[in-house]
Amino acid sequence: MSPPIIQHDLILAKFFAAVLRLVAALPAPHAGARMKTPKRLLPLVEEGLIDEVLSQLMSGKEATVYVVRCGDAVRCAKVYKEASQRSFRQAASYLDGRKVKNSRQARAMEKGTRYGRQVQEEQWQNAEVDALFRLANAGVRVPTPYICTDGVLLMDLVADAQGDVAPRLNDVEMTEAEALVMHRALLTQVIRILLAGMIHGDLSEYNILLADDGPVIIDLPQAVDAAGNSQAREMFERDVANLAQYFSRFAPSLAESNFGREIWLHYEAGALHEDVHLTGVVAPDMTPVDMDALMQDMEEVRLEAEDRARRQREAGD
Ligand SMILES: Nc1ncnc2c1ncn2[C@@H]1O[C@H](COP(=O)(O)OP(=O)(O)OP(=O)(O)O)[C@@H](O)[C@H]1O
Ligand SMILES: [Mg+2]
Repeated sequence: MSPPIIQHDLILAKFFAAVLRLVAALPAPHAGARMKTPKRLLPLVEEGLIDEVLSQLMSGKEATVYVVRCGDAVRCAKVYKEASQRSFRQAASYLDGRKVKNSRQARAMEKGTRYGRQVQEEQWQNAEVDALFRLANAGVRVPTPYICTDGVLLMDLVADAQGDVAPRLNDVEMTEAEALVMHRALLTQVIRILLAGMIHGDLSEYNILLADDGPVIIDLPQAVDAAGNSQAREMFERDVANLAQYFSRFAPSLAESNFGREIWLHYEAGALHEDVHLTGVVAPDMTPVDMDALMQDMEEVRLEAEDRARRQREAGD
């Protein structure tokens, strides 16, 4: 009765071999089902910058983000939406203080001509990659950028300990002690950004990812020059207040803090450095008014007015 059993084993072995071949032929688990290359990413695939599009991460207000493979590396491709599809809420303050290459471009932008809009669009798309390069060089924890071309920014994927896409800070729970430590770590990042001459401009728990080695700041197309922008102080204080408000969910003492004003005062005084001692408390400005100086200023204004009136009278004579 042994031959039928051998035959049975043989059939089983063949079956398992077939299953193994089938499994081996499936794409790697991280790749999931192969997806069709989105149209906007085709130029980068043709240029050899991207080898394969692995998945779509999400579609936000201003961009759609994909996970892509470049050689052995898994990276992130941020495809900017066309201006008409975008809701760019900080357009005005973003343009404030931004330099254009030449006056022809500046005039075109002012007039809102087609060429002007094109210049503005290119400038906007390049702003994020410029900011990323500048901040990465200054030691700020941002994703390493590679290139921005055809309206697509290619950068490192921020990953968690398992190599999966890192969660947004908003989706993370923590203890009070952890919140205080992470809040301070992020203040150091914000200070580094300011020391590099910039302000994020849209910093919140939605634009910070928690990588395996700590928080990473993303989403910088609206970043502005700290020196050239008339709303710099307000933007900076708002960014820092957003951090305090988020972390106060876990560490309530942060709700009353005023680190933004405190850091800005150090910055204005030229005394800001990374390890600056911060309390989160800013004393109200109690400097007594110098009455003598005030009376002198008023007297000078009165004399100037008198002088002007005298000259006008003389000119009329
Ligand atoms: N380098 C990256 N690594 C991992 N995930 C990223 C990266 N860049 C962006 N993401 C993911 O894509 C999302 C959208 O990116 P981003 O915030 O830059 O674009 P956005 O269009 O401004 O989106 P939103 O409207 O949500 O602010 C992020 O919240 C994050 O989940
Ligand atoms: Mg965002």
